[in-house]
Amino acid sequence: MPLIAFVSPKGGVGKTTLTAHVAALLAQRGHRVLAIDLDPQNALRLQFGLPMRNEGGFLCDIAHRPSWRQAVVDTAAGVRILPYGAADPLTALENAQALYAQPELLAGPLREMLADPGLVVIVDSPPGPTPALSAVVPLIDLMVVVLLADAASAAQLPSIISNRWLGRGRLATRAGERAVVVLNQVDLDAPLASAVFDGAAESLGPRLIGAVCRDDAVAEALGDKRLLLDAEDGPAAEDLRAVADAIAGRLHLPPPGSGTAGRRRGGFSALAEWGLR
Ligand SMILES: Nc1ncnc2c1ncn2[C@@H]1O[C@H](COP(=O)(O)OP(=O)(O)OP(=O)(O)O)[C@@H](O)[C@H]1O
Ligand SMILES: [Mg+2]
Repeated sequence: MPLIAFVSPKGGVGKTTLTAHVAALLAQRGHRVLAIDLDPQNALRLQFGLPMRNEGGFLCDIAHRPSWRQAVVDTAAGVRILPYGAADPLTALENAQALYAQPELLAGPLREMLADPGLVVIVDSPPGPTPALSAVVPLIDLMVVVLLADAASAAQLPSIISNRWLGRGRLATRAGERAVVVLNQVDLDAPLASAVFDGAAESLGPRLIGAVCRDDAVAEALGDKRLLLDAEDGPAAEDLRAVADAIAGRLHLPPPGSGTAGRRRGGFSALAEWGLR
């Protein structure tokens, strides 16, 4: 049904962290979730605790029209994933060229996935605009742009707001209409982060749908090959949950299933703390 993509002009900002946590939290709410890795780094495998040893994959073989159904892998978090798969740099480049020439190689299978009314499809992307992302953009329902609360990200805000970073023309305009922003690794005690947060909140308005605090627990959980799925896992876990809730609200996903009974809501959220949601 809906297609959510985590994107950013910048690398290392938390796209994969957010993809994995939002996917797992939506699965926890009772949704069927399929997460697709567009990044040859295969970081989504790591996030879901799968061995990095690559058997199979989807994007790695995209030029040969692989069966996406056969490439699906189950994870302990209840999310099904389509790993990128093993690809040396030359193959990754050839895949990008193939997608540049024939976006349908990816758009076609994606339309099949989206035809399943009960399936939430979530895409993790490498930094910047790529041919794979361009193939996906026309089908996106919600494009979540991930940024940090630092000077480099603040400098990107004007191009995010105008959507110039995805190019010009109707496609970029359409993508812009579906774009929202999450600030990650926010330290509200740091004056610069606080100033960037203020500026982003003012310029983005309701398009700023969430903020996740900087919390060592996030990187430590990745080291332990686990996800922070309980609000009790700490402040970032609560913020990640608030982001998942905001996304579900934006997309009018059906109410949570029984998996959410008794869980805490709200708590620490930078946006709530700042009176923005
Ligand atoms: N809120 C946070 N607090 C502390 N560490 C974080 C937070 N979010 C992400 N990290 C850590 O930052 C690192 C980069 O995160 P991640 O891999 O999700 O970024 P990315 O945007 O997907 O990177 P890439 O551009 O390489 O795909 C990881 O080690 C992750 O655990
Ligand atoms: Mg990543």
